[in-house]
Formats: sequence, structure tokens, C-alpha cells
Amino acid sequence: MKTRILFLFAFSLLYVSGLNAQDYEYIGVKKCKMCHNKEEKGNQYKIWSESKHAHAMEALNAEEAKDPKCLKCHSTAAGAPEDMLSDYITVEEGVSCESCHGPGSAYKSSKIMKDREEAIKNGLVIPTEEVCKKCHNEESPNYKGFDFKEYSAKIAHPLIEEDE
Ligand code: HEC
Ligand code: HEC
Ligand code: HEC
Ligand code: HEC
Repeated sequence: MKTRILFLFAFSLLYVSGLNAQDYEYIGVKKCKMCHNKEEKGNQYKIWSESKHAHAMEALNAEEAKDPKCLKCHSTAAGAPEDMLSDYITVEEGVSCESCHGPGSAYKSSKIMKDREEAIKNGLVIPTEEVCKKCHNEESPNYKGFDFKEYSAKIAHPLIEEDE
């Protein structure tokens, strides 16, 4: 009897946390591009597309590009739980926005995105060093060390605020 109650309790916890995660889907970089490709706002899409993250799949040869051991850090889509993938994200887009900013299905609308607090409630992540270290760590066969300040500067894609 005791084990049964414990089991049910554990199950309900699993269910609740599982539900939250599954509410969100990875929508792919093309969706973010629709709004984040404006020159006057800093064109975050263009900066990303010219970064190593966007080309992370090109670093792998044909065999490695099928190996889950490599894919999990070289592709957002390949590294995400399958039940959180939308039809729009591709493995080829490499390390894309949602690896760092979280799956975008719930925060992607303009109304929510304009309100940082609302966006965070809906899954937006403002990335910290911990986010980077999911991939920039010694498990990587080509690990070169990681300095958050230095590496963040290399990928900086600031939002340019409009003059009021
Ligand atoms: C429908 C348009 C739209 C889409 C789609 C969209 N965004 Fe945004 N995003 C905005 C707007 C508007 C802002 C507020 C800043 C501004 O006015 O440009 C914003 C702000 C942000 C911010 C800054 C939040 C802050 O408060 O510092 C991040 C990070 C961001 N978006 C990431 C993403 C990512 C990642 C995706 C794709 C998963 C995405 N956005 C899709 C419109 C959009
Ligand atoms: C834990 C995450 C992780 C795993 C697993 C991983 N990589 Fe990487 N890989 C990275 C990171 C991060 C970099 C960028 C190098 C750096 O700055 O440390 C990188 C860079 C590379 C590069 C570019 C080489 C260079 O000198 O920059 C190649 C090639 C590569 N990885 C191949 C692979 C292969 C093949 C596998 C599977 C056997 C693999 N990676 C598994 C995270 C990972
Ligand atoms: C490798 C991780 C990473 C990827 C990939 C990435 N970002 Fe970011 N992004 C960051 C970090 C780190 C910041 C700075 C957060 C802060 O202000 O503390 C940031 C900030 C932003 C901001 C807000 C900038 C500001 O000045 O407030 C926007 C908008 C944004 N990212 C959009 C995007 C979009 C769109 C993509 C994909 C095209 C993308 N990011 C890909 C890590 C990433
Ligand atoms: C999902 C895994 C992943 C995450 C999360 C991630 N990276 Fe990376 N990063 C990579 C891979 C893989 C490469 C290597 C791509 C290549 O060389 O083809 C890389 C390369 C880089 C490079 C280029 C290094 C060089 O040798 O020029 C910089 C800079 C960088 N990342 C910064 C960051 C920062 C800052 C964050 C956190 C805000 C971050 N990354 C988060 C996987 C990741």
C-alpha cells in the first residue's frame, strides 16, 4: 500500500513537470527570423547566421552528422526531446536561437515578446553562463576552454532600441 501511494505521488510529480515542458515546442529559426531580421533593430538573425553556431552541422562529416553523441551539441533540433519538436525546425539549422533562448511556441507572439516578464513566463530564456556550458564543456572532443565574457562578446547580437 505504501509503495503504491509513493508511486502515485512520484507519478503525479512527473506528470505535472512533464506537462509544463510539453506545452512548449521548438519552432525553428525561420520563425524568429520573421521579426528579428530588421537592420534598424540590429538584425539578430543575420548576426547568428554568420556565426559558428549556425554552421555547427557543417563541422561534422556525413557519419558524425548521424551520431547522436555529436548531434546533441551541434544541433538544437537533434538535442531536443522529440515530443517538443514542431514541423518547422530542421537539424541543419545547427545551434539556433532556441538552444539559448528556450523553445519559442508560447512566447513568439509580438504582444508577449514585447513584455519581457510575460515572455519569460512563456518560456523565454535570457541566457546565462550555465546555458552555454550545456555544450561548452569537457565532453566536447574539441573543447578549447570557455570564458563567458569573451565568448559572449564574440556572439553578441544586441537589440537596438528605437529613438522615442
Ligand atoms: C512576431 C514577431 C516576433 C517573433 C516571431 C519573435 N520575436 Fe523575439 N521579439 C519581438 C519583439 C517585438 C521584441 C521586443 C523588442 C523589440 O521591440 O524589438 C522581441 C524581443 C526578443 C528578445 C529580447 C527580450 C528581452 O526582453 O531582452 C529575445 C531574446 C527574443 N525576442 C528572442 C526571440 C526568439 C528566440 C524567437 C524565435 C523562437 C523570437 N524572438 C521570435 C518579436 C518577435
Ligand atoms: C558537449 C557538447 C559537444 C559534443 C558532445 C560534441 N561537440 Fe563538437 N563542439 C562543441 C563545441 C562547444 C565546439 C566549439 C569548440 C570550442 O570552442 O570549445 C565544438 C567544435 C567542434 C568542431 C570544430 C573544431 C574546432 O576546432 O573548433 C568539430 C569538427 C566538432 N566539434 C566535431 C564533433 C564531433 C565529431 C563530435 C562527436 C564525436 C562532437 N563534436 C561532439 C560541442 C560538442
Ligand atoms: C549561443 C546562444 C545564443 C543563440 C544561438 C542566440 N542567442 Fe540571442 N542572446 C544570447 C545572449 C547570451 C544574449 C544576451 C543576454 C543578456 O542580455 O544578458 C542574447 C540576447 C538576445 C536579444 C536581446 C538583446 C538585447 O540587447 O536585449 C535578442 C533579441 C536575441 N538574443 C535574439 C536572438 C535570435 C532571434 C536568435 C537566433 C536568430 C538568437 N538570439 C540566438 C544568446 C544566444
Ligand atoms: C547547443 C549547444 C551549444 C550552446 C548551448 C552554446 N554553444 Fe557555442 N558552440 C557550440 C558548437 C557546436 C560550436 C562549434 C561550431 C563549429 O565550430 O562549427 C560553438 C561555438 C561557439 C563559439 C565560436 C568559438 C570559436 O572557436 O570561434 C562561440 C564564441 C560560442 N560558441 C559562444 C557561446 C556562448 C557565449 C554560449 C552561451 C550564451 C554558447 N556558445 C552556447 C555549441 C553550443
